[in-house]
Amino acid sequence: MASPPKKAAATVDFGKPKDKMKALWTLMALLLLPPETLAARVSRTRRELAPGLHERGIRDAGGSYCEHQDACCHGRDDGCTVPYLDTICYCDLFCNRTVSDCCPDFWEYCLGIEPPFPVQRVCIRNGHKFPTGATYRENCNLCTCYTNGQWNCENHACLINTDMVDAVNRGNYGWRASNYSQFWGMTLEEGIHYRLGTIKPPTSVMNMNELQMNMEANEILPQHFNAANKWAGMIHEPLDQGNCAGSWAFSTAAVASDRISIHSMGHMTPALSPQNLLSCNTRHQQGCNGGRVDGAWWYLRRRGVVTDECYPFTSQTKEGSPPAPPCMMQSRSTGRGKRQATARCPNPRSHSNDIYQSTPAYRLSSDEKEIMKELMENGPVQAIMEVHEDFFMYRGGIYRHTPVAAWKPENYRRHGTHSVKLTGWGEERMPDGSNQKYWIAANSWGKDWGEHGYFRIARGANECDIETFVVGVWGRVGMEDMHHHKK
Ligand SMILES: *[C@@H]1O[C@H](CO)[C@@H](O)[C@H](O)[C@H]1NC(C)=O
Ligand SMILES: *[C@@H]1O[C@H](CO)[C@@H](O)[C@H](O)[C@H]1NC(C)=O
Repeated sequence: MASPPKKAAATVDFGKPKDKMKALWTLMALLLLPPETLAARVSRTRRELAPGLHERGIRDAGGSYCEHQDACCHGRDDGCTVPYLDTICYCDLFCNRTVSDCCPDFWEYCLGIEPPFPVQRVCIRNGHKFPTGATYRENCNLCTCYTNGQWNCENHACLINTDMVDAVNRGNYGWRASNYSQFWGMTLEEGIHYRLGTIKPPTSVMNMNELQMNMEANEILPQHFNAANKWAGMIHEPLDQGNCAGSWAFSTAAVASDRISIHSMGHMTPALSPQNLLSCNTRHQQGCNGGRVDGAWWYLRRRGVVTDECYPFTSQTKEGSPPAPPCMMQSRSTGRGKRQATARCPNPRSHSNDIYQSTPAYRLSSDEKEIMKELMENGPVQAIMEVHEDFFMYRGGIYRHTPVAAWKPENYRRHGTHSVKLTGWGEERMPDGSNQKYWIAANSWGKDWGEHGYFRIARGANECDIETFVVGVWGRVGMEDMHHHKK
């Protein structure tokens, strides 16, 4: 909370004993006056006896001081003081003659009467006064000025936590953290609730048969690989899911877009529509409230989706909003395994409503080498991972989950399931001489996040479960596509 400003102190800092001396002189002067003048004086209101600070707009800030200390003195008592803002106030009867020299609740609490001048209960922040009910935001927490003149702030764990950013950057964790304006003001709960959105597949899917790969036991793979270099122009940029917990649809569309581009040898380079999945793949799926990647792959195989240009992203989760807008188009079979859209693009500027499909997705083993080989031969893969509180603040480097929230209350530690696109790997020599292996992954939090929308994460250690469930797929590309779609 803001420390009380100097100006507020000035309103109450009288230097009590000196003030009392002055009062004494005034009293003696009064006694020396002719009797009728004295009578007139005495009949004057208490208001006039006060030093008139209130007339200059200076008021007590309000609060319970005498009450808290239970310290009402009945005589003049310089020892009867209570800390008030950054000075002291008095709870003694001498207070009758001033407003601000006594504690704000002196009149009410000690004398049981209304204060002579209503105490304006204001809250102070950055030297400014705010009335009861005023609010301000401190990151993700709303602070409200209560009737007692105190700011009262909510106590949520925020998505961007400055302490944790500093702790990551001070610690030797191999990655850097920073503030993100798109996350500032959100609670950690909201981050988990709105920014992820992949439901962990049930055990039956998790245990789905792994692809058997023909790999020499001592096959040598390159130290560095980046799909964007091998397949230039076919690897799509990281997406931005906004506050839509639909990473299941974003990562699926992202991997399928790259795979179709690669498998058509660049004849088609569609950026597939996550919105098409969010709105139309609704069986057992919850749009922007989360969904399963196996369901998304089923839909891509059986129904197919159009491009993002045709069916642009419009969903953003808001409290109480439906998980996604209604589905604007279906697809129907045209025979020979091909499908076509049943409606025009929901975006009037786009006329190309071709449907793109995939073959059945296949699960890879969790072996680092097999994932690498698949990535290198066939293109980017989809990976499910657990996102922890510190990941949101990732700015660059090789991510590992850190214990920076370990000493904080339990509500500062949260995690949720997410899915991303792996596009490469590498190794980096650390200052201590060790070699750190990493994956390169595209997230769906926009290109301003991380390393231009990408992040690197420790490889070979199943960091955040990233090697637990990895999926590949083939685009369904026919001979005719090699000519038809080429622009
Ligand atoms: C202080 O206020 C009380 C209550 O109004 C009154 O009884 C008392 O005489 C006052 N004392 C002085 C010194 O004005
Ligand atoms: C973080 O970013 C927000 C928005 O850009 C800004 O208002 C806030 O002051 C920043 N916080 C810190 C601690 O730098």
